[in-house]
Amino acid sequence: MSKYTGRSAVVTGGARGIGAAVVRALAKEGLGVVIADIREAEGVRLAYELGGDVSFQHLDVTMEHDWTRVLEAAESEYGPLAVLINNAGILDLGGVAEVHRPIFRHVLDVNLYGSWLGIHSAAPLLARAGGGVIVNVSSTAGLMGYSGLAAYVTSKWGLRGLTKAAALDLAPSGIRVCSVHPGPIRTPMTAGLDDSVVAGQPIPRFGEPDEVAAMIRFVAIEATYSTGSEFVVDGGATTGAAILTTPSAATDFPVGL
Ligand SMILES: NC(=O)c1ccc[n+]([C@@H]2O[C@H](COP(=O)([O-])OP(=O)(O)OC[C@H]3O[C@@H](n4cnc5c(N)ncnc54)[C@H](O)[C@@H]3O)[C@@H](O)[C@H]2O)c1
Repeated sequence: MSKYTGRSAVVTGGARGIGAAVVRALAKEGLGVVIADIREAEGVRLAYELGGDVSFQHLDVTMEHDWTRVLEAAESEYGPLAVLINNAGILDLGGVAEVHRPIFRHVLDVNLYGSWLGIHSAAPLLARAGGGVIVNVSSTAGLMGYSGLAAYVTSKWGLRGLTKAAALDLAPSGIRVCSVHPGPIRTPMTAGLDDSVVAGQPIPRFGEPDEVAAMIRFVAIEATYSTGSEFVVDGGATTGAAILTTPSAATDFPVGL
């Protein structure tokens, strides 16, 4: 019997992509899992496919009353809340000078405010249950800058900071809070990108949603001595090593200098 048997998990943005892979991974851990998303058709289909202790609830992460309803449903269906995965996110293009105000605000609203609202709403339930874990899905864009992605980069650094603040504030309630930082992963979000994006990485391919889900599962279930911590799953994109491993760069700047 898993330590989470008889308890519930909520995965935001769980209808597709990385979130759907996380739903599959957590469902194997004895948790009752709520897919919480604005994409009803895909979420209902996934819940039907997985059956058993997986269900769908409509959630817009920016709506406080949605959070209240979804968390209540999770607890009444599957038992005390144990796990919240703040995975829902959106990406919009635009550099700092040209990004439109409503777009900048909307990206922050979903990626950052929505995650804070989730933590704010779930923390009392997790505390009442004797503790639990929150995993925030940030990005390599929360560890470094990318040009043309001003709102997204800002939101993902913010989420990394929110993780530290929440880890400190919620530790007395027995709640761990960590961030996971994926690199380029093959999901609908990256459908328009070709392989040139990943060609310079030490592992020169897109990651799969299951590879991120394995990390999130590890953080949620196994990493019992980690809080406020950052877990990177990026094919080596943030090592900087790609610069030294291209043949011309290696000639100009041999490794070791
Ligand atoms: N795919 C990548 O390369 C990559 C890399 C780094 C980080 N991430 C992050 O991983 C997370 C998942 O991304 P993905 O690639 O699976 O994207 P995706 O677009 O495939 O899935 C995102 C999900 O979030 C849901 N969502 C969007 N806005 C919402 C809202 N307001 N309320 C509730 N749900 C909402 C969508 O409906 C969708 O099901 C995101 O936070 C993303 O920023 C993705």
